[in-house]
Amino acid sequence: MNEPRNRVVQVRQFGGPDGLEVVDAPLPTAGRGEVRVRVLASGLEYTDVLIRRHLYPQTMRHRPPFVMGYDVVGEIDQLGDGVSGFQLGDLVADMTVVGSNAAYSTLRADRLTHVPAGVDAAEAATLILSWTTAYQLLHRAARVQPGQRVLVQGAAGAVGQALLVLGRLTGLELWGTARGAHAALIRELGATPIDYQREDFTRVLSGGFDVVFDGIGEDGYRCSFAALKRGGLLCAYGYSAGVQAQRRMLTMLMWIARLYLWRWLPGGRRAFFYSINVMRARHPAWFQEDLERLFGLLATGTIRPRVAERISFDQVAEAHRRLEAGGLQGKLVLCPDLKL
Ligand SMILES: NC(=O)c1ccc[n+]([C@@H]2O[C@H](COP(=O)([O-])OP(=O)(O)OC[C@H]3O[C@@H](n4cnc5c(N)ncnc54)[C@H](OP(=O)(O)O)[C@@H]3O)[C@@H](O)[C@H]2O)c1
Repeated sequence: MNEPRNRVVQVRQFGGPDGLEVVDAPLPTAGRGEVRVRVLASGLEYTDVLIRRHLYPQTMRHRPPFVMGYDVVGEIDQLGDGVSGFQLGDLVADMTVVGSNAAYSTLRADRLTHVPAGVDAAEAATLILSWTTAYQLLHRAARVQPGQRVLVQGAAGAVGQALLVLGRLTGLELWGTARGAHAALIRELGATPIDYQREDFTRVLSGGFDVVFDGIGEDGYRCSFAALKRGGLLCAYGYSAGVQAQRRMLTMLMWIARLYLWRWLPGGRRAFFYSINVMRARHPAWFQEDLERLFGLLATGTIRPRVAERISFDQVAEAHRRLEAGGLQGKLVLCPDLKL
């Protein structure tokens, strides 16, 4: 029997999407404690743009060529020595940060989460980075309470949509900034839209918000902090605005460091930066527990993440351009089996 063919998306050089290439690669073999999966779905994230541009702290040590791919849903097709609790054919998921934009990939068994039978692989993939981030921001970091008034910056984005859906399930009163064209989507997700190109969100609520979630970092998070009520909490988790404006990594790291100084200002407001990788390193069980809970919500139809498009290997560079251009209303997911 012919060996299956492996293909991967790799960064040939840091910078624009032209630095990505799709190449044939050797079929990996599962080592001790590992499984090999046939990849069914791997999300494409704005965070991939940061990694590709060499602006992502966790991958600063990587040098091209390396394989892209933050998260993966796959079917186990090989078990390494010493693996228990998994069988050939099982559907599993992991957040790998890099390495999952591939037809086949090896994964550490002790980091895997079972994916329930019957769920759509692309929808499941959207939950790994974007929805787990949203869930942990709400329930592990901010520990929100029903009735709180919450502002979500970048609400039409992958994490933003998840924050609105999960925030609504928790009984929050929600506002979301997005471009005007996304107003109907934001309303559909249960929030009051604020057009970030025309309206001043700091004036929307006179008393201020209990919690602001900000993955954009416009103005170095200053306006988000100003929109808080006394005693309010700013949870920053991204700096897309700095990336788009071609700011240096050091500048963005200074924005983040400054967040921790603001707690000394009058008003009792606090700010901090959330990282899914830091939280996973500190509390590995939380990551798995939270992802399992989200898979459960997907399996029962309680949540329905939006997949803007399933794409093939040859469309990945274009997908990166679309991520940078903005305007998407759902996630782009690489599905290696997709035939065009
Ligand atoms: N810390 C962590 O653990 C963690 C985890 C996941 C993601 N992130 C980071 O969080 C950020 C968001 O991630 P994502 O996957 O949700 O990205 P995304 O899908 O690209 O969404 C970002 C959204 O931001 C909107 N936007 C751009 N400029 C804006 C502004 N000035 N005000 C309000 N909205 C604006 C865009 O909306 P329009 O299309 O309307 O312009 C887009 O919908 C990224 O920087 C990502 O790297 C961090």
